[in-house]
Amino acid sequence: MKLKILGAAAGGGLPQWNCGCPNCRDARMGRIAPMTQSSVAVTVGGETVVLNASPDISAQLPACGLVPQGLRGSPLRAVVLTNGDVDHIAGLLSLRENSPFTIYATPSTLAILDQPIFRVLNPDHVTSAPIRLDQPFQPLPGLTVTAFAVPGKVALWQEDGEPDTALMGEQTVGLRLDHAGRCAFYIPGCAAITDALLDRLTDADLLLFDGTVWADDDMERSGTGAKTGARMGHLAMDGAQGSIARLAGLRARRVFTHINNTNPVLQPGSPERARLTAAGWELAHDGMEIDP
Ligand code: MLT
Ligand code: MN
Ligand code: ZN
Repeated sequence: MKLKILGAAAGGGLPQWNCGCPNCRDARMGRIAPMTQSSVAVTVGGETVVLNASPDISAQLPACGLVPQGLRGSPLRAVVLTNGDVDHIAGLLSLRENSPFTIYATPSTLAILDQPIFRVLNPDHVTSAPIRLDQPFQPLPGLTVTAFAVPGKVALWQEDGEPDTALMGEQTVGLRLDHAGRCAFYIPGCAAITDALLDRLTDADLLLFDGTVWADDDMERSGTGAKTGARMGHLAMDGAQGSIARLAGLRARRVFTHINNTNPVLQPGSPERARLTAAGWELAHDGMEIDP
């Protein structure tokens, strides 16, 4: 299997339309590479599964060579969703026009799509397949995917008051991908690393993990807001319980993705970036190809 990062940014992208933080300004000036929103393509035998459908998908597919081979059509056979956030589902609306594919998601995420606007995805061509936690399925011949619960919360737009940010269930899932003896994990949103999650990751060859924030207070420190990473359902990279420390013992190649535009690691010369690299992590970028 070949993985391609279609979009390495968290919701909003880099630059974000309304943001003038140093990272967004530098991305507009061409000083750091822009990033589109959170999505990964997995290709096996010329067919592709997209993990999360970002609002930028119309540009992401051709940028990664995922174009029609004939008059109509696409290598895209399926979309697998990890939650119901806008950055992960809005791109489905751009996949109308009657090409066949299957949407795999948990029943609670599929229920979100049961709204009139999603009827543009003609059910004669676009089918929904509910996935059960911890039950492997095959979206492509030879590619086995297993979804599992990770601590998280309901989608931002579903919040009603203070949400439980450490829910374990169908709202937020990670994906294990197995093909030809190689194993990759994709976890773009995760509020905490439990011991059970650590156990699960021991035999991974590749881990693509939630890189939304460096520290819990990235937004406050960048002057863009007061919301913490924890409140967003995203575990910080830094700190004793942060992802860098908690995942230090893994043998997997480790890559952060779903990176928020306020994250200081986006500055190549920053001390945070140096620490990330010294800890053996990589930062995803749009178009990055990974052969786990
Ligand atoms: C998130 O990952 O926290 C969400 O994508 C937030 C959003 O919908 O903008
Ligand atoms: Mn997101
Ligand atoms: Zn910004």
